[in-house]
Amino acid sequence: GALDAKIKAKGKKYYGNIIDSNTINTAQVTNILNTEFGAVTPEYSMKWEATEPNQGQFTFANADAVANWASSRGKLLRGHTLLWHKQLPGWVSNIIDKSTLTQVIRDHINAVVGRYKGKVYAWDVVNEVLEDNGNFRNSVFYRVLGEDFVDLAFRTARAADPKAKLYINDYNLDYNGPKINATIALIKRLKARGTPIDGVGTQAHLIVGNLAPFDETLKRLASTGLDVAITELDIRIAKPVDAAKLAQQQKDYATVTRSCLTTPRCVGITIWGVSDRNSWVDGTFPDYDSPLLWDDDFREKSAYTGVDNAL
Ligand code: XIL
Repeated sequence: GALDAKIKAKGKKYYGNIIDSNTINTAQVTNILNTEFGAVTPEYSMKWEATEPNQGQFTFANADAVANWASSRGKLLRGHTLLWHKQLPGWVSNIIDKSTLTQVIRDHINAVVGRYKGKVYAWDVVNEVLEDNGNFRNSVFYRVLGEDFVDLAFRTARAADPKAKLYINDYNLDYNGPKINATIALIKRLKARGTPIDGVGTQAHLIVGNLAPFDETLKRLASTGLDVAITELDIRIAKPVDAAKLAQQQKDYATVTRSCLTTPRCVGITIWGVSDRNSWVDGTFPDYDSPLLWDDDFREKSAYTGVDNAL
């Protein structure tokens, strides 16, 4: 039991999970979070469309609830996320002018990071800025500002909350190829320019039985000299789910957990959901199921045992 206590005993900072307005009043979820996890990330309420749906109109009620939940229970809070091309309101994506977008980014980051100053352990400052082929994604941020938008975001966030750890976060960093190469190269350029960056997050939305060298890629990310965090772990199963696949899932969860333990710069792991019932996988990957540690009825799965035994 108590995954967070166990990982802390191994020198890590937290074993975390997500919470948001859809689960914060569900006792089965909050009981598990209270007992097993030491950090929370809001699943959506700190994203741009949630915090600033219209320019200059900030809505923080749901994000405040998560932040208060965390601080009143002594849990670390991961802020997610400041600049992302998804869940981004249209008024931002339509901007074409450099100085306008620069000011909009500054205002957004100052407001959101400023509101939670001193309460956030780490911010995912930029999310999913690269494509799988290693090129920058064609987001409004890159189209209008070029790579400089990344520096702008990190510098603004640092000034708004000097103590928060600032992360670049992305998916498909779990196998070798152009994306992890480009991520590492981008981190090196940011560091060379003196841009304040502290960590790299690997989302780790994984598929059972398909773990390319997870341990190796985690250590490659750590070779940048940054902190490394596994930020959105889930390991989904191709339907139909059967006993053999659940057994493989147990092994895969153990592998990922061990990879963090054997990577000194890995600070912690966040799982993207408590119960399979609430997972984004249902809606996003209809051919997959059962990605988490607790089943639809909040029963511990063998995946839980996999994590527990690895710690
Ligand atoms: C997902 C949430 O889980 C969903 O509830 C929401 O509808 C869409 O976003 N990468 C990320 C996360 O960085 O913010 C995403 O979360 C999953 C993929």
